[in-house]
Amino acid sequence: VFRNKLTFFAAAKVSSSFPPPDLPEIAFAGRSNVGKSSLLNSLTRQWGVARTSDKPGLTQTINFFNLGSKLCLVDLPGYGFAYAKEEVKESWEELVKEYVSTREGLKRVCLLIDTKWGMKARDHELVELMERSKTKYQIVLTKTDLAFPVDVARRAMQIEESLKTKKSALQPLMMVSSKTGAGIRSLRTVLSNISRF
Ligand code: GTP
Ligand code: MG
Repeated sequence: VFRNKLTFFAAAKVSSSFPPPDLPEIAFAGRSNVGKSSLLNSLTRQWGVARTSDKPGLTQTINFFNLGSKLCLVDLPGYGFAYAKEEVKESWEELVKEYVSTREGLKRVCLLIDTKWGMKARDHELVELMERSKTKYQIVLTKTDLAFPVDVARRAMQIEESLKTKKSALQPLMMVSSKTGAGIRSLRTVLSNISRF
C-alpha cells in the first residue's frame, strides 16, 4: 500500500474542518522535531510531500494525506516545543488531543519518540489520553542513526517496561531512521495491515 501515490488533501486548525473519515487512518504524533513529517515521507518514498524542517514547530496544522485512496496518513503538529506564542501552542495541543481521542476511522497512532531523549511528560500525557479513549497506538523510536545500538536497545527496553500495563499500546515497539532507512520496511509491513485492501 505504501507504493501508492501520496497526495495532500486537507489541513485543519480546528476539528470542524477535519475531512470526513472515509478511509482507515494512521496518525503520526510526537514532540516537535522528533521526525514525524520525515517518517511519512520515508514510508511512502515520496520526499517533500510532507514538509520537514530542522526548525521545530514547522507543522502547525493537522495535515491529511491520501495514500492511493486506501489509507489516510495524518501528520500532526508537534507538541512541547515551538517558537510560537504560548496561546498558539496550546491550541495545537488541544487540537491534537481532540483528534486522537475522538477521530472516527483512526486505526492507529504512531507515537514517535526520539531515541536520544526518550519519553517525556507530554508523551505520557498523550498515552494516558489514548488509554482513556481506547485509541490503539504504537511507539516508534526515531533517529536511531544518531545513537549507539546499545543505547537504542536500552531505550526500547525502558519504554516497553513503562508501557507494560497499558491496554491500548501495541507491540512490538518499532525503531527507525528516516535518514538511513533502517526499520522503515518493517514499519511499512506492520502498518500495511490497516489499509482497506
Ligand atoms: P514538527 O513538524 O516541528 O513537529 O517536526 P517533525 O516531527 O515533523 O520533524 P521533521 O520530520 O520536520 O524533522 C525534524 C528534523 O529532524 C529535520 O531536520 C530532519 O531532517 C531530522 N530528522 C528526521 N528524521 C531523522 C532521522 O531518522 N535521523 C536524523 N539524523 N535526522 C532526522
Ligand atoms: Mg512536521
